[in-house]
Amino acid sequence: GPLSEGDPYMTAVKNGQVGSLLNINGVKYTREIQEINMKHSRLGIPLIFGYDVIHGYRTIFPVPLGEACSWDLKLIEHSARVAAEEAAAAGQHWTFAPMVDIARDPRWGRIMEGAGEDTYLGSLIASARVRGFQGDDLADTMTIAACAKHYAAYGAAEGGRDYNTVDISRRTLIETYLPPFKACADANVATFMAAFNEINGIPASANAFLRETLKDKWQYKGMVVSDWNSINELINHGIAANKEEAALMGMRAGIDMDMMGHVYSGTLVKLIKEGKVTEQQIDDAVHRILVLKFKLGLFDDPYKYCNEEREQITLLSSSNREAAREDARHSIVLLKNEKQLLPLKKAPGKIALIGPLGDDKDDILGNWRGTGRPADAVSLLEGLEQAQIPGLKVIPVKGCDIDSEDRSHFHEAVQAAKKADLVLLVLGESAQMSGEAKSRSFLGLPGVQKELFEEIAETGKPIILVLMNGRPLAIPWEVEHAGAVLETWQLGTEAGNAITDVLFGDYNPSGKLVASFPFNTGQVPVYYNHKNTGRPARENAGYTSKYIDAPVKPLFPFGYGLSYTKFDYSNLKMDKTELSGNDSIKASVLVKNSGAYDGEEVVQLYLRDIFASVTRPVMELKGFKKIFLKKGEEKLVEFYITRKMLEFYNIDMKYTSEPGKFTVMIGTSSESYLKTNFVLKD
Ligand code: NOJ
Repeated sequence: GPLSEGDPYMTAVKNGQVGSLLNINGVKYTREIQEINMKHSRLGIPLIFGYDVIHGYRTIFPVPLGEACSWDLKLIEHSARVAAEEAAAAGQHWTFAPMVDIARDPRWGRIMEGAGEDTYLGSLIASARVRGFQGDDLADTMTIAACAKHYAAYGAAEGGRDYNTVDISRRTLIETYLPPFKACADANVATFMAAFNEINGIPASANAFLRETLKDKWQYKGMVVSDWNSINELINHGIAANKEEAALMGMRAGIDMDMMGHVYSGTLVKLIKEGKVTEQQIDDAVHRILVLKFKLGLFDDPYKYCNEEREQITLLSSSNREAAREDARHSIVLLKNEKQLLPLKKAPGKIALIGPLGDDKDDILGNWRGTGRPADAVSLLEGLEQAQIPGLKVIPVKGCDIDSEDRSHFHEAVQAAKKADLVLLVLGESAQMSGEAKSRSFLGLPGVQKELFEEIAETGKPIILVLMNGRPLAIPWEVEHAGAVLETWQLGTEAGNAITDVLFGDYNPSGKLVASFPFNTGQVPVYYNHKNTGRPARENAGYTSKYIDAPVKPLFPFGYGLSYTKFDYSNLKMDKTELSGNDSIKASVLVKNSGAYDGEEVVQLYLRDIFASVTRPVMELKGFKKIFLKKGEEKLVEFYITRKMLEFYNIDMKYTSEPGKFTVMIGTSSESYLKTNFVLKD
């Protein structure tokens, strides 16, 4: 909202003590404050406005984890562009996105904000998002500055508990967690944000290794901001005795801007006078901040993002809504479809729409919904009604809340199910159950939702489970007892329309999971690119690496997702079985759409280095292609395997490849593929 006269920030702006503000929305207020700044502050340096534009500004797109399941980089780039256009039209210059933290633990609520568990896919999605937000020119009023966050390894918090300690090997840090950040640096992301967590004893906001990697090794020229109060929190971490020490450490970590901590502003002058911080260090930090403001065009015109008419036209425009619907359809993952229960026929009949999320317009927006409003959103009930299917009657009954002990409405839900031909059971999490500080220790459905399901199951009616959630869930019983399961995440403003499109086959689902669904909470972390161990897990074999009370495999693996049609994989071929020099191997596979619908498929390439100087994952995604096949159509899909793709940090931490045998796997998920071998020569 607006800053009122007498507000301490307003006074600070007048006194020229503010360089940036966050969470100020709309052209009216940003203009007002900028005017005050330009008029009163001593140097007249334009303010920069930042905001968490995570998955849309006013038109809300699917939560990032859901959108990542599209594996569609163009689409992902476009959604970031739409978000940027709206944010820029509303006076914003800078988003605190993308979050590029790799997350292998769905207990961590912030898994929702990223692209899942895989480093390769995560890196591609990270750069697509940066390109989307920033375009080619930050001065363009259709783009805003992006921020790669949270540098680094925030996703590795112990136990998935937010802000918690991270203790990982340097190898894992470098190999698994840093590459998406490198991808952002390479994509010229305007800013980085330091993470809250410590890494191996040194908080990210005090971490010289992170600065050296970013600013020296990668030669990153952009600006680094702390996270909210994270420099100040060095005191809580127990490595800084007071604000002055904290400021020194923040500088050591290469943090140029102190977000909300008021540590730099209160101590740096003194620290410079004492010779503890050099003028050169300050110049470098200031330089990076000013360059950003220059690049945004703010020195040419501090009001260039302040056009009320443009704001009016751009926000929630019909083309933006259309883009959100398209994005949402592509984010849906079909997890199960027994006896071809889906798609539904557009025919007369009765559907019982049961569950706390069936007519929800709020939770579908997910957490970090910018300035999105529930009133703008389309619930699933509304989507079904708007589809105007002749003779189709939808009976909505909540049955229970998302998270309460109240079972008193089960009865109405059961009655509705009994009268219906089929049940759409819409269950999941609230928007406030994922995102920052929203870790969960139990990954089943919250409250009494499972009990509601049990009662509905008793009716014997066919059940389509529609899930709405911000993280992978551990729901084996629910999956077993549903005829079909659609994972719809939190799809944003157009959720209801997009789900309806998929339910009735106007769009054939093509999403593939980017994070494994655990079988139960205790199985976490479970991810596809794990190591083999000395005792590789085998079902029905004792003394192998597994739990005695859970299956070896996750409930659903990385890369998994069904379609209404069927894709057959055959003829895996390579043009040679030895790779030498700078050559490449052409690997191809024939994919045939042998089902009854046109559809898209994500063809996935995985590699395994069988022996190396250090242990290597059992498989790693190294390429993918999203193809469209008409029914009956077949396509030869080709990948080129190069030496570069085989590189890793060897025993001397040298990034290189080692000769020997490799496995190539090409298929429809990380668990279902064709495979063959080749040899890498010296
Ligand atoms: C703290 C969060 O960790 C970060 O992701 C966010 O951008 C800032 N708050 C600003 O809201």
